[in-house]
Amino acid sequence: MRLHLKVWRQRDADDRGAMASYDVDDASPDMSFLELLDVLNEKLTVEGEEPVAFDHDCREGICGACSMVIDGQPHGPEKATTTCQLHMRHFSDGDTITVEPFRAGAFPVVKDLVVDRGAFDRIIAAGGYISAPTGSAPDAHAVPVPKDQADRAFTAAACIGCGACVAACPNGSASLFLGAKITHLGELPQGQPERNSRVLAMVDEHDAAGFGGCTNTGECAVACPKEIPLDVISQLNRDYLAARKARRRSA
Ligand code: SF4
Ligand code: FES
Repeated sequence: MRLHLKVWRQRDADDRGAMASYDVDDASPDMSFLELLDVLNEKLTVEGEEPVAFDHDCREGICGACSMVIDGQPHGPEKATTTCQLHMRHFSDGDTITVEPFRAGAFPVVKDLVVDRGAFDRIIAAGGYISAPTGSAPDAHAVPVPKDQADRAFTAAACIGCGACVAACPNGSASLFLGAKITHLGELPQGQPERNSRVLAMVDEHDAAGFGGCTNTGECAVACPKEIPLDVISQLNRDYLAARKARRRSA
């Protein structure tokens, strides 16, 4: 396949950045999108040019690192697919493909396609955990969890923290990510003792990081490679209001 790539190049956080054009003449339909960028980078290195910086780790749809916008869509045009699992067979010979970093105030561009998603780490550090000593792994049925709650927790736990929901949202909100984390822990018995303090601290950190508010556009759920459902945001809002009420009562 012959492909024409328009790639965002930005030296560092202070550089204004601009699109640059490259041709890749020997792409295979079986390559992943990251392998296409590998081929481009080999070509650039041989030609004495700086390779394109991009994030990746697992290349299996697990880590959430391969964050980029392809043809205007976070993780590209395929539904429920991370960039590392997007294959070139979904494009056509001769296509022009644009590749940009995630654009959101809370995700500053570090270099080329790499953005700083440390704000997500700070949200998790604010409360996305349980602090009870858990010891060694208990038997699977030691703590009974109703099936529908276990399923809901499991669905929410599929969030890989990639940030595509933020990049897709016109408000730059991380509500889908936050809702997934709140729902995951809030549905399980082990998550109950810190349920109120968790949601208050995580929402505070979300707002402090500069993410916007949710106005129910639903773009986040469409872009999410793990198909996190939009109703985790309703759960987030319910938990937040309940926690605020409980805090007022105890004041
Ligand atoms: S909710 Fe979906 S899009 Fe957002 S961080 Fe999690 S996996 Fe990525
Ligand atoms: S590189 Fe890990 S999800 Fe894509």
